[in-house]
Amino acid sequence: MSSTIDSVLIENRVFPPSAEMVRQANISGMDAYRALCAEAEADLEGFWARYARSELAWHKPFTKTLDESNAPFYRWFHDGELNASYNCLDRHLATQPDKTAIIFEADDGKVTTITYKALYHDVCRFANALKGKGIKSGDRVLIYMPMSIEAAVAMQACARIGATHSVVFGGFSAKSIHERIIDAGAIAVITADGQYRGGREIPLKPVVDEAFAMGDCDGVKNVIVYKRTGSPVAMKAGRDMWWSDAVKGQADTCEPTWVGAEHPLFLLYTSGSTGKPKGVQHSTGGYLLLAQLTMKWTFDYKPTDIFWCTADVGWVTGHTYIVYGPLACGATEIMFEGVPTYPDAGRFWKMIQDHRVTVFYTAPTAIRSLIKAGGDLPKKYDLSSLRILGSVGEPINPEAWMWYYETVGRSRCPIVDTWWQTETGGHMINPLPGATPLKPGSCTFPLPGIIADIVDETGRTVEFGKGGMLVMKRPWPSMIRTIWGDPERFRKTYFPEDFHGKYYLAGDGASRDTEGYIRIMGRIDDVLNVSGHRLGTMEVESALVANPLVAEAAVVGRPDELTGEAICAFVVLKQTRPSAADAERIAKELRDWVGKEIGPIAKPREIRFGENLPKTRSGKIMRRLLRSLAKGEVITQDTSTLENPAILEQLKHVS
Ligand code: WT7
Repeated sequence: MSSTIDSVLIENRVFPPSAEMVRQANISGMDAYRALCAEAEADLEGFWARYARSELAWHKPFTKTLDESNAPFYRWFHDGELNASYNCLDRHLATQPDKTAIIFEADDGKVTTITYKALYHDVCRFANALKGKGIKSGDRVLIYMPMSIEAAVAMQACARIGATHSVVFGGFSAKSIHERIIDAGAIAVITADGQYRGGREIPLKPVVDEAFAMGDCDGVKNVIVYKRTGSPVAMKAGRDMWWSDAVKGQADTCEPTWVGAEHPLFLLYTSGSTGKPKGVQHSTGGYLLLAQLTMKWTFDYKPTDIFWCTADVGWVTGHTYIVYGPLACGATEIMFEGVPTYPDAGRFWKMIQDHRVTVFYTAPTAIRSLIKAGGDLPKKYDLSSLRILGSVGEPINPEAWMWYYETVGRSRCPIVDTWWQTETGGHMINPLPGATPLKPGSCTFPLPGIIADIVDETGRTVEFGKGGMLVMKRPWPSMIRTIWGDPERFRKTYFPEDFHGKYYLAGDGASRDTEGYIRIMGRIDDVLNVSGHRLGTMEVESALVANPLVAEAAVVGRPDELTGEAICAFVVLKQTRPSAADAERIAKELRDWVGKEIGPIAKPREIRFGENLPKTRSGKIMRRLLRSLAKGEVITQDTSTLENPAILEQLKHVS
């Protein structure tokens, strides 16, 4: 009997929202949620048109909501005109000019705040500086910046003049920058001399210089450098200019450039399975609508909130829930330069206490590392200001969920486990804090207007309790518009013929329990998810193979307590299989190599050397076997199709 109760407790722990949370919520109670879903299902266009009109400020109103004539290249509100920066800044000037927009806390703890009015003027001055350099609507600008108010200013200034920004995460290597400058056809780069993280100084401008040295970057006519560390950097005359000089004497107002709703607000590169990163192209109107609306739905945004999303602006989470969503709402938000474990693992909790944070949004990988570094630390701090906790980037395991709920939220704060992607632009599947009863490990139900389903290979809905592929059966406003420069790849990747080009394929496996609660099972393909960052196996493999010593490589993810997945690489050298002593040295060399080629995040945790890789007769690497080997499992799978079964024994062990 006790085991029945146990299993009921473990499998079906349900946490309904408190009466108080329901009472004050923007979407109050499950009936209200269901009513919105029903409204959207009955008239999807009417539903989104209603919100687009009530939420956004339009320079020219749209007359058509959704244009499906060139599907899957959907267009939303396309004859309407607006400006994202106007929506984030100008419209708050009359109502709340002196409200704090951003509270910036530097790595060393120094706090800088900026009001909406001051932010508006900074953005205008920088926008004028960009204009003065001849940068105009439709141009692409690459941004490689530390977490800083200036990073937000740079992005907003691009939006203000209609330039399409492409932010590259500050941890990425010169090679990544080089690749993105060329693919995007960037004409300007905005960067900083360096950044501080965890008490260490990390160079940025020198990495940009390294990218330029790789050649073919002559399209970049201007580099603007924000001085953060003061360390000496090379400045090329006629091309490079300090930020402070660029804004000197610029007017502090700048008429926004009105753009069509479909105008590309930004490109953000994400890994693909073929190795070449995809420039995910987002729109202005539809994107901004979801950014703002999900602040109100998912985070139950209230004007009194102190909102903190811990993501880096280099990821989509930083775009939507630092730079666009909170500012579009007129929120006060935190921006943090440093890392969660410096000076100690209490940093997040201290910051929540000091700034009286009400809504806190972070990633499971951060949560797991903080449990490991000091599971009791949150108890030392006053976290009573918190009202909602969020999670994003990968499935949050129930143990981490429970710790987050009890130790950080003190069992008072709903956890919104938000499933979405770079490609979806904003939240898609997640609980509503004042409505949805929570189940640890489940991202629960789709938002109103998001028509998600879980289907088999033929596109048929799988029954509750079974797993399948997560798809969207209808378009939504903030969806990816195309892959920059490669519309065919966009179509093939996201709207495959398997579903007659009609369904958006998320690429994730998912299942629903008997009550319809959705659980994400991970990528259907082999993409790795390290610390919440998505990496294509092919990219890491290509990097390894690019090393002169390496003949062949295959990488797989293995579950890791801390980072979600750790990369395990199987490598065949051009020389004979190394001895144990040599293996260690070569493995280190290869790890550093990958760190340089892609970035530290892509460094394989473990490298095993073999004379060969397990392949099918047609020459395909059998990844499922490698995954088992990486996990240290006994191989029980069918190996009869294997060309060279003996190799499994060799790859079983770390050399
Ligand atoms: C992939 C998207 C969304 C912004 C950060 C990552 C995984 C994301 C969850 C979640 C389970 C999740 C999926 C998705 N993922 N959030 N709450 N539960 N899995 O953006 O790099 O585009 O990665 O991250 O696999 O497809 P991204």
